[in-house]
Amino acid sequence: MKLLIVAGARPNFMKVAPIIHEVRKRALDGTPGLQYRLVHTGQHYDKAMSSIFFEDLGIPAPDINLGVGSGSHAVQTANVMAAFEPVCEQDRPDWVVVVGDVNSTLACTLVCAKLGIKVAHVEAGLRSFDRSMPEEINRIVTDALADLLLTPSIDGDANLQREGVPAAKIRFVGNVMIDALVANLAQAHASPLPARLQLEPRGFVYVTLHRPSNVDDAPSLRQIMVALNVIAQRVPVVFPVHPRTRAMLARFEIAPADAAAIRLIEPIGYHDSLWMTENARFVLTDSGGIQEESTYLGTPCLTLRPNTERPVTIEVGTNRLTRLDRLQQDVAELLEARHSRGRIPTFWDGHTAERIVDALLQHAEAPAASLS
Ligand code: UD1
Repeated sequence: MKLLIVAGARPNFMKVAPIIHEVRKRALDGTPGLQYRLVHTGQHYDKAMSSIFFEDLGIPAPDINLGVGSGSHAVQTANVMAAFEPVCEQDRPDWVVVVGDVNSTLACTLVCAKLGIKVAHVEAGLRSFDRSMPEEINRIVTDALADLLLTPSIDGDANLQREGVPAAKIRFVGNVMIDALVANLAQAHASPLPARLQLEPRGFVYVTLHRPSNVDDAPSLRQIMVALNVIAQRVPVVFPVHPRTRAMLARFEIAPADAAAIRLIEPIGYHDSLWMTENARFVLTDSGGIQEESTYLGTPCLTLRPNTERPVTIEVGTNRLTRLDRLQQDVAELLEARHSRGRIPTFWDGHTAERIVDALLQHAEAPAASLS
């Protein structure tokens, strides 16, 4: 069975790594004919957004890099499609494996659907029910076209069934990002970042914000920086700044008022980020992955968004949605109350990649679009 595994942007790398490790293990253990190639679309290309993750996660450099880079949604999606099509035509894999909800995920799925190549979508079925998010469009279209929908939580199955996806195409496998977390926690504990930044466990707030709805709008970003200043009067804030956010801070000429208490640093690697999430007093984020990682690690999480496609992190985990006009109250409550560590959702157990490879092998013989 020939797999073409696709990754394009930062949140993809920790999802493909456990799958690659599992495929390599099975191939070594003697599963006949199992091979893979890794395609990097190049959506993210800075060292801090891409290659550092390959080093941290112990995965080999991509076999193919499409080098598409940045652009508008249409340009980026189209460039991935144009570059990925010849790779598929030449390679003719049994499965293309796409992960998450970024533009690369959607673009590669579209190419395969037209070429009659089967697509497995890892992290299928998540819905924010907010079509103003580019990721929601990517999720809906990818799931409508994919042949095998591998869900991280049971709400994903319910969403897909409601959209009319046949049950035979859906497989609840659990959260593959937690496989990466479990495998890397010991290395995260050895991160040099706390010594470099002089951080004590529970002595800081870990902030990550990069969603267009938060950072592409000048008044919103200005208000966020004001709010961080208020928080920083109580607990020091460490904010690794995503390139999109950095560009917007520069464009709108916004600087933190209290530069000593708000530390704006360059984006950090995977092990460093896990250390921060595990040891923060709380995290304030609009990332999808950090909502999940904080739930697994039992760290309180405030998500600065009106909704989440990961409701399980609220229902059983440590996550809570917040708004700018309620943020200080939510922070005060968090700092005063004893927080519950929550529970870890079903199948967030470090064995998801095994279930993914099992599902791919079981469906290996089915032709594209026949799984219904
Ligand atoms: C993308 C994903 C988002 C994910 C995020 C994680 C889509 C629609 N969005 O958003 O779901 O949460 O990645 O990071 O796919 N840039 C650099 N260096 C890089 C990459 C980007 O400087 O290596 C800058 C460029 O100015 C670029 C901007 O960041 O225009 C945005 O990058 P883009 O890939 O379009 O989207 P993200 O905001 O990163």
